[in-house]
Amino acid sequence: MNRSIIAFISTSLIISAFWGCNSLSEKEIEYRQSFESGKVAYHTRCANCHKPNGEGMGTLYPPLSHSDYLKTHLQQLPCIIFSGLKGPISVNGSNYNWEMPANKTIDEIEMSAILTYVQSRWGYKKEAVSYEEARKDINACVAGISRQESGVRR
Ligand code: HEC
Repeated sequence: MNRSIIAFISTSLIISAFWGCNSLSEKEIEYRQSFESGKVAYHTRCANCHKPNGEGMGTLYPPLSHSDYLKTHLQQLPCIIFSGLKGPISVNGSNYNWEMPANKTIDEIEMSAILTYVQSRWGYKKEAVSYEEARKDINACVAGISRQESGVRR
């Protein structure tokens, strides 16, 4: 194949990829990007304990998948990630009393991605959490208050 044909084909591919993307709304693109970064961040920061599919591990690490605790504490999720969690809790009828480490150096970009991923993967909200929301969440955790009290809408 000569060079101009190769150049033509690759330009067409780029253009069609561009058109393909263009058919998605901006919101959908933002969501997909956030979800994919969140998946990577989840695997780095969470999956060791909660496992890649969120099933948890025995009596030590509670599940995130179908977790009745997460369902009723969705407002606290950013602060659970930021500050960790300690002390007895009950998840789906099993008792856990261990310690989850804090992630105090997490920035709003990674926080937004993990929130998008966790909320969406386990069936709550299929939309991107923005950097602004994640920054407000982190600030609220630093100040020791939950999402609800800080007035962050979710
Ligand atoms: C070193 C292990 C470890 C890591 C890493 C970890 N957790 Fe946990 N997580 C725990 C433990 C242990 C508990 C239960 C704490 C207790 O007994 O009070 C928990 C509890 C939770 C809970 C509430 C209970 C439930 O199952 O619904 C959520 C939500 C949660 N973790 C999310 C996360 C997310 C998101 C990440 C990643 C940012 C993460 N955890 C990273 C060990 C871990």
